[in-house]
Amino acid sequence: MTYILAIDQGTTSSRAILFDAALRPVATAQEEFPQHYPCPGWVEHDPADLWSTVAGTARGVIEKAGIDARSIAAIGITNQRETTLVWDRKTGEPIHNAIVWQDRRTADTCGRLREDGLEALFTARTGLLLDPYFSGTKVAWLLDNVEGARARAERGELAFGTVDTFLIWKLTGGAVHATDATNAARTLLFNIATNEWDTDLCAALDVPLSLLPEVRDCAAEFGTTRPDLFGRPIPILGVAGDQQAATVGQACFTPGMMKSTYGTGCFALLNTGTDLVPSTHRLLTTIAYRLEGKTTYALEGSIFIAGAVVQWLRDGLKIIREAKETQPLAEAADPAQDVVLVPAFTGLGAPYWRPDCRGAIFGLTRNSGPAELARAALQSVGYQTRDLLEAMRADWGAASDGVLRVDGGMATSDWTMQYLSDILGAPVDRPKVTETTALGAAYLAGLRAGLCPDPAGFAATWALDRRFTPAMDSATRDARYARWGRAVAATMSM
Ligand code: G3P
Repeated sequence: MTYILAIDQGTTSSRAILFDAALRPVATAQEEFPQHYPCPGWVEHDPADLWSTVAGTARGVIEKAGIDARSIAAIGITNQRETTLVWDRKTGEPIHNAIVWQDRRTADTCGRLREDGLEALFTARTGLLLDPYFSGTKVAWLLDNVEGARARAERGELAFGTVDTFLIWKLTGGAVHATDATNAARTLLFNIATNEWDTDLCAALDVPLSLLPEVRDCAAEFGTTRPDLFGRPIPILGVAGDQQAATVGQACFTPGMMKSTYGTGCFALLNTGTDLVPSTHRLLTTIAYRLEGKTTYALEGSIFIAGAVVQWLRDGLKIIREAKETQPLAEAADPAQDVVLVPAFTGLGAPYWRPDCRGAIFGLTRNSGPAELARAALQSVGYQTRDLLEAMRADWGAASDGVLRVDGGMATSDWTMQYLSDILGAPVDRPKVTETTALGAAYLAGLRAGLCPDPAGFAATWALDRRFTPAMDSATRDARYARWGRAVAATMSM
């Protein structure tokens, strides 16, 4: 038997999933790690935790499956995007904790760059906006705030990487400093039209070019693992940011196809083919994947809080013990009440981009309780997704096929997916395999290893679990969505 090992390094946990050559999942291992919040709005990860949970789950899954590492033909890596690390090239020692994508500490820097009139330039070249979400201003923060870092960077002693790059470095024992085009596209430093690091943007952010990794295709050679890690060297042959890997795993290879992944946040990507479509509705233009030097682009809508709203019900409000309790609670909510929750806990992402905004609840009565809050939490995911799809429709027009493919933890909730379909007024398709992020990474590695079919062949294996179709009348849909719009406007005015 031949296997492919997918490493999925996410925001709250690291996972390793072993697939057989037919891309069927065989075994899974998962480990959570601590989140660090040193100041309000700051989020950090300890690089040692990222590495130990990745190495631990990768070894764990091999052990669990009872296989020999010799039968693993390739490793595919997928990762939380934008999260920023800088380390010493000689010792491999990170100079600071990783600054996580959710971290807002560079909001003022972004504001200053905007005031200097630079947003249009950044957007034209990177497809992104000047928001602290992306890596560029985080790298600059590290260089300016860690003692001696800028001087070391200028001497060429330091390396920058998103999480994929850091893991490749660790897995190969420092032999390879590389990333793939999808991760590079999230840094604010990479020109997505020319597929090169942009010297003007690096200069504007004061990031020396010597820090940057080499950018490769998503299915490419990224070196081999240190022999002592798994008992023999294994080639790393696939890399993509987690949302792009999910786009691949959902087989959204045709322009107009779109997917939405419900993890901590929610990220919807619409394949726009070889067209780099600039957004006029505050979406991101990004690289969906790059295969054999050919770039496929996407429009992306990013929402920062989706599954995290359920975590808040559990850990903050303590009204549920487990995520799966949310659905029965929502079903039991009083139909006469109309509580609306705007979960802007870490600001609002697309299409609003308001890092300063915080969450709000509207429509509370003396009878509002856990059930109404749980329902409002799940509904907020539907409304936020509609915000994204409205913007996509406006940017891309009728060419989209109108079907949304969903995956991630929340996609397993029938109630949430039905509400999503109701509010979108469009079909929502849930595939049989909802591990699409890991599947995408495994496919990319398997493609390079010559084990997997071409994208069309892979797309033919995509299987539907359930299609949700709208069951809400359009007057109710419009009224609810309009109420959401008013709630967001009020939240933003606070
Ligand atoms: O852009 C951030 C995204 O890649 C994080 O995804 O699944 O770790 O919440 P996730």
